[in-house]
Amino acid sequence: MSFLPAQLIRKKRFKGAHSKEELEFLVNGYTSGAIPDYQMSAWLMAVCLSGMTDQETSWLTVAMMNSGRKLDFSNLKSKAIDKHSTGGVGDKTSLIIAPLVAAAEIPVPMMAGRGLGHTGGTLDKLESIPGFDVRLDLEKFKVLIGQLGTAIIGQTKEICPADLKLYSLRDVTGTVDSIPLICASIMSKKLAEGVGGLILDVKYGSGAFMKTLPEAVALAKGLVNIGHHAGISIAALLTQMDQPLGRYIGNSCEVRECLEIMDGSYLKTPKPSLYEDTKELSLALASQMLILSGKYSEISAAREMVNSLLSGGQALSKFYELCRAQGGKIDQLPTQAKHEIVIEAQQDGILRSYNVEEIGLAGIELGAGRRRAEDQIDHLAGIEIFFKIGEPVEKDAPLFRLFANSDRGFKEATSRLLAATKISDAPVQVEPLIAGVVTPEGVFYAH
Ligand code: URA
Repeated sequence: MSFLPAQLIRKKRFKGAHSKEELEFLVNGYTSGAIPDYQMSAWLMAVCLSGMTDQETSWLTVAMMNSGRKLDFSNLKSKAIDKHSTGGVGDKTSLIIAPLVAAAEIPVPMMAGRGLGHTGGTLDKLESIPGFDVRLDLEKFKVLIGQLGTAIIGQTKEICPADLKLYSLRDVTGTVDSIPLICASIMSKKLAEGVGGLILDVKYGSGAFMKTLPEAVALAKGLVNIGHHAGISIAALLTQMDQPLGRYIGNSCEVRECLEIMDGSYLKTPKPSLYEDTKELSLALASQMLILSGKYSEISAAREMVNSLLSGGQALSKFYELCRAQGGKIDQLPTQAKHEIVIEAQQDGILRSYNVEEIGLAGIELGAGRRRAEDQIDHLAGIEIFFKIGEPVEKDAPLFRLFANSDRGFKEATSRLLAATKISDAPVQVEPLIAGVVTPEGVFYAH
């Protein structure tokens, strides 16, 4: 069916609801080049200002999903389950979760992303392992899922080409932060992956794209609603991003943190408590994936299983297998950057708060992330944190250790980190890491 793009733009501008055919016309027309950037930009802005109903968002998602190839894992013995995080700082849980859940004999075909803005990306972390290839073709990906139970690759042009084009346009037209557009973008890719279930980690706080819990709940509800109507098992954990996750922020240092959790050696480090949030969130998300697979009905039994697979070393063995299968030489993981400095606390007190977005930007100053898409990452660059919120800090104690192969960004990163860290005498209320879970049945708060 054919429509006039300008009429559809006006319809959305005046808060009209699109039909399925209108949305298919827009998505297919833009993907094929029949609708130019200037008309699509105007329509995207109209969506940002006028919103979309749940029904429109579902239709948009399906139209985007149908723009490319769809994978099918229904031949496997168990439902394939993926995980998606809305992005954070120090968020390395995918590296633990994929092998851990695969060790529970639940297939995990993971299509991951690169760092976006101040947040890190799983693909960049994996590429810090010499030889690790995240660009496997879809046939090899499917073979590995069958043989190993997991593989982690980047988005390919064959999956959701509409999103590839639309996302780039949204990025440069100030139209990224619209809940229906974000939901359709994320879910079209996940549905095209052919998974039977999806766990979402929807983050909120100073280091997340959603700054408040109500915003995160709205996004989680939108995502869960689309997945549920598309017939997959889906749930979202609402998780806090008011401090970086774990001990390290960077790439090879984050891989190391995961290895230390998977082999238990973190317990011998000077402060094992710095690893607890990474470990806890990985176990919580992995347990939910076991429930979504349909193989477990009680969260306590799922939790017991992932606990024993992590502490028994099966997750680590699976991670080694994954690295070998994708060409990664984990025994050659580089660890020592050429330069490092330590930033010390300038006063006594309690660690009150972090501005986590600023900490992520400090990581970019060091080279751990990109300013422009074409920038090369310094895989050895990163930040070690020494304190979590609510802990007492003494003047001159190390607050952060910065490391990188070039010291060019140290000055700017130091001022960002000092400005991002508040220490005061007043006691601090520490928020729980997991605020609740959103399922198709509703929102269940933890406290
Ligand atoms: N991640 C995506 O894949 N799409 C968005 O729109 C936002 C974050």
